[in-house]
Amino acid sequence: MHYQHLCVIIALVFVAVAHCDTTTVCDSSACQTPLTGLQSSNRFVPADYTRNLLNPDYWIVTPGGNVSYFNLSTTPALAGIGIAFTLVMLEPCGIILPHIHPRGSKGVYSITGKSLLVGFIQENRAQVVLNQIGIGYAAAIPRGAIHFVQNLDCSPSMQIVAYNNEDPGLLTLGLNMFRFPDGPLSPAFGQPDDFINNLRSSIPGYPLDVNKECRRKCGLPT
Ligand SMILES: *[C@@H]1O[C@H](CO)[C@@H](O)[C@H](O)[C@H]1NC(C)=O
Ligand SMILES: *[C@@H]1O[C@H](CO)[C@@H](O)[C@H](O)[C@H]1NC(C)=O
Repeated sequence: MHYQHLCVIIALVFVAVAHCDTTTVCDSSACQTPLTGLQSSNRFVPADYTRNLLNPDYWIVTPGGNVSYFNLSTTPALAGIGIAFTLVMLEPCGIILPHIHPRGSKGVYSITGKSLLVGFIQENRAQVVLNQIGIGYAAAIPRGAIHFVQNLDCSPSMQIVAYNNEDPGLLTLGLNMFRFPDGPLSPAFGQPDDFINNLRSSIPGYPLDVNKECRRKCGLPT
């Protein structure tokens, strides 16, 4: 071996050793020893496992209705528990706009909704599953399916939504699809770029809205 190469190797080893001396070998949280269930459970105080979803301070208020979350981001104690809930309070004619939960199947339970339209599509060419449900009904939506929940009624309605994952994720279609450039979108809709730009500028910036036609029929402001 050439003398110079040896020097380089010795220098590198020296730098590596010096580096180990001054910093911990593994200092990112990703390399920390995972907590046991017991350790994890004892990190929290009892109240960390609860949340009053009816507290308006926690609501995300949108024109289509309000949502109150109980998931990993609101409640870190849910880590590893594998469940989450959302209390949904839809306005008359309110809709949870078409969306996907990438990491969780969901169940919807209608507490006060007399007339809810629940729909999903699981993949290309799969059937469109549409059900109109009333008070007391539960409906299932498989993980990854595009789905929506629409209040067809002229009064507000409440549902409990449950997920089999503490962090189901939320991907609202309109909001996200139009973040793509015109290039792939104009052929996807069979329309010129101008049309896509108009569409993009009219997409609501929130995940719930109302159906205006329905609101007019109910004699409600749009
Ligand atoms: C949503 O919250 C707002 C603000 O608290 C309230 O005015 C509205 O009535 C609520 N709507 C529903 C459907 O709960
Ligand atoms: C979890 O709760 C947060 C509010 O802290 C919300 O922004 C997020 O959309 C919720 N995730 C899901 C999948 O409902």
